[in-house]
Amino acid sequence: PPAPLALTVNDKPYYHDGDPQMPLLWFLRDTLRLTGTKFGCGIGACGACTVLIDGKAARACATPMSVVAERKVTTVEGLEKADALHPVQQAWIEEDVAQCGYCQAGQILAAVDLLRRKPKPSEDDISTIGNLCRCGTYPRIRKAILRAAE
Ligand code: FES
Repeated sequence: PPAPLALTVNDKPYYHDGDPQMPLLWFLRDTLRLTGTKFGCGIGACGACTVLIDGKAARACATPMSVVAERKVTTVEGLEKADALHPVQQAWIEEDVAQCGYCQAGQILAAVDLLRRKPKPSEDDISTIGNLCRCGTYPRIRKAILRAAE
């Protein structure tokens, strides 16, 4: 059997002793029951499964467990600190972004990564995120990201 692999998820230590090629998304949803991270396309194209790995946005469906060994993963469940919503989550509520809401955890984590890299993002910077929203809430997503940047 493969050697167990250690990782941190939302500041807690975990081990994975199964297939190192298993997608991180399965580990989060099925093993840890962190179901905020969504399965959309399964091929790294839609962004519904976006999480942070060492602070950088990554698509969990296309990330094998071997890649996250000894790394820190943050999911939407880990964004809240000391019972306070993350500023991006707060902006999401204030702009009433969600329609069906399926893509929003991924959108929020992608936005957190963008704002880390570009604290005052331009419209073009926001366009680089590329996470899909089938309800077409893009105008509200943009407004929420700009609000969080204020
Ligand atoms: Fe991972 Fe679509 S489910 S990118």
